[in-house]
Amino acid sequence: MNNVSLLKVGGRALRGVLLLSGAMLIAVPQVMAGDPLKGGKIYNQQCKQCHGSSGKSTFPGVADFSRGEGLMIADHELLQKIRDGRGMMPAFRGILKDGEISDVITYLRKLRR
Ligand code: HEC
Repeated sequence: MNNVSLLKVGGRALRGVLLLSGAMLIAVPQVMAGDPLKGGKIYNQQCKQCHGSSGKSTFPGVADFSRGEGLMIADHELLQKIRDGRGMMPAFRGILKDGEISDVITYLRKLRR
């Protein structure tokens, strides 16, 4: 193999890496960035009756979102909690799409004051 063909091989590999990182840049915001306005509407319809308009729950002992409680975890973990539910917390799998849950998560993070 001479020097020219080595360069070609190297160039192809580099292009592959650039393509891959480009795809990741596009994919991350699509999954994570929610719309807080849509999230607020969904929250008022689906969550407010238990978690309160300010994020302070009417149930005793439940995380107070207005104080940032329960929100010190990654978005994908919150998504899973909301999908699965627990005890009195209903599961939203099949009721809300993942994108809608992401919107709500963005809204939850804005309830903190
Ligand atoms: C029927 C009442 C009810 C509704 C409706 C409800 N929740 Fe909950 N939620 C609860 C209760 C009760 C808990 C505490 C569950 C436990 O830990 O046993 C909880 C827990 C949570 C937690 C976990 C907090 C922590 O301490 O880790 C999150 C996040 C959450 N709810 C978000 C939501 C969102 C978002 C919605 C609307 C899409 C929603 N909930 C709708 C009652 C409700």
